[in-house]
Amino acid sequence: MSKPRVFVTRKILEAGLRLVLEHCEAIIWPGELPPSRQELIDHVRGVDGLLSLLTDPIDGEVMDAAGSNLKVISNHAVGVDNIDVSAATQRGIPVGNTPDILTDTTADFAFGLLIAAARRIVEGHRCVQTGGWKTWAPDFMLGVDVYGATLGIVGFGRIGKALARRASGFDMRILYHDPSSDHELPAELSAARSVDLETMLQESDFVSIHTPLTKDTYHLFNETTFQKMKPGAILINTARGAIVDPSALYQALKSKQIAAAAIDVTDPEPLPMDSPLLELDNLIITPHIASASLATRAKMATMAAENLIAGVTGKRLPYCVNPEVYQV
Ligand code: GLV
Repeated sequence: MSKPRVFVTRKILEAGLRLVLEHCEAIIWPGELPPSRQELIDHVRGVDGLLSLLTDPIDGEVMDAAGSNLKVISNHAVGVDNIDVSAATQRGIPVGNTPDILTDTTADFAFGLLIAAARRIVEGHRCVQTGGWKTWAPDFMLGVDVYGATLGIVGFGRIGKALARRASGFDMRILYHDPSSDHELPAELSAARSVDLETMLQESDFVSIHTPLTKDTYHLFNETTFQKMKPGAILINTARGAIVDPSALYQALKSKQIAAAAIDVTDPEPLPMDSPLLELDNLIITPHIASASLATRAKMATMAAENLIAGVTGKRLPYCVNPEVYQV
């Protein structure tokens, strides 16, 4: 019997690739950059399964180009904002993602950014590299303390909670805002307090974003939000770039309305080299690498491959974001 046909939109780590090639007749996009929309449409025609990355916008048109054979869209990410999930649901196509396995890796990175911004680690490194280190001085490169400060977490799901666990090791006071969060917290997080967004912004020394990008969270951080933040606060974003309005962020940092920010995600990605954000000393930007440990990316590749293989062989996806497709 012939193997199911799939399109994989980029070379994923070996552990996942091997599984895909074992079970499927696969076309793996060879480019270093994602396929263009036309290339994507051309390559999905007639496939049984699609393994996509967060850089690939997958909408109804792409699904229709694939046609009625398409049995699964497996996203190599926990976030699925690049996929029109309701269009997939309407067509009865299950969409897979890669939750849990990247939680701790991402929370480690978010906490790393928080410390780096608070203690000006990147700026300090740049200062040494460019010959700015003349002597030890009492008022040189002063930052703010992390221990004992208040951390506001927007989105108290898996990654938000994992960040809170790290922060409690630094004796931080934890506030969170998440309308959809369960109220029962594990014992180690029982001191975390659920507050409305406004209270969080007013009381937090650090605010870290861990909510998915939806139409409700698009530009949740805008001029008005920044005005409500505590003067001297620091913003961390490892979720999705478009949750923060980039021009409002620029203004808030340039005017020192907030002290600093550290972001792993931007809008757009990659950030164009002429972006004014790149001129700011009080902004750390990393290239969307919060989940990028070798072990975690291997697990993500494996999980995305397992979702793909389950879908093309008519089994329920182990990790499915639209399980309602199985109800009919
Ligand atoms: C990364 O940003 C992911 O959603 O997995």
